[in-house]
Amino acid sequence: MNDVIKLLNNHRSLRKFTDEKLSLETIKTLVGAAQSASTSSYVQAYSIMGVTDPEKKKALREISTQSYVEHNGHLFVFVVDFYRHKELAEQAGEEISYDKTENLIVGVVDASLAAQNMAVAAESMGLGICYIGSLRNDIKKTGEILGLPEGAFALFGMVAGYPEDEGSQKERLPFEAVYHENTYQRIDEVQSDIEAYDQRISDYYSERTGGKRDDKWSEQIIDMLSKKQRLDVDTVLKENGFLGQ
Ligand SMILES: Cc1cc2nc3c(=O)[nH]c(=O)nc-3n(C[C@H](O)[C@H](O)[C@H](O)COP(=O)(O)O)c2cc1C
Repeated sequence: MNDVIKLLNNHRSLRKFTDEKLSLETIKTLVGAAQSASTSSYVQAYSIMGVTDPEKKKALREISTQSYVEHNGHLFVFVVDFYRHKELAEQAGEEISYDKTENLIVGVVDASLAAQNMAVAAESMGLGICYIGSLRNDIKKTGEILGLPEGAFALFGMVAGYPEDEGSQKERLPFEAVYHENTYQRIDEVQSDIEAYDQRISDYYSERTGGKRDDKWSEQIIDMLSKKQRLDVDTVLKENGFLGQ
């Protein structure tokens, strides 16, 4: 197994960091790695924000409710961004729109590929990272705090920093349940693999929490997906010119 695969397979989200801040050189290296990701039609429909202002970090922590949004080596926010495209078109006397679901997919995929490149780059430098989707607990306010213009919205944050602990690795679904060859396998063909996985995850939580928690993976995702949450996201995206008017 080569070093890149070893690094990828060793991923775990880290949420406790030392007080050491990322240097500008490190930030530039990480942003450069992020920007090297493929981008749909070369459109580069994202921006990356760094948040260093303590007041803004505090306000974003309140939205996310997660302490590591405030305490980290650096807080990045990945923004889906068609603002600059719109402005450049206007300057050229043209009109563009990005209101189709396809445009939204392009922006979200572009930003996500860039983010994952950054995550891998950071981990290769001995840093830890955690994505912060909880900034979408109040996507409008997050946008206001960051001064986002129309055509841009905050997709997620990413905290990075020098690890204070090693974290722990969470096993993924088994190969058999995720990889389908030629024809999609329905649930009954992979049920036993998923059940065995569920049991391992339950044991993992039980061991980590001294028995306080022993939920299975399938219980977790049913609970998560049955909640109607962040219903304001559609409205805010529409206000910003996405998803039709
Ligand atoms: C888009 C995205 C958003 C996430 N948002 C959060 C978050 O708000 N808070 C958090 O603690 N972890 C967040 N995570 C981390 C996931 O919980 C984590 O990746 C998952 O549980 C698997 O654990 P691992 O990364 O340690 O392997 C997010 C991950 C992704 C990809």
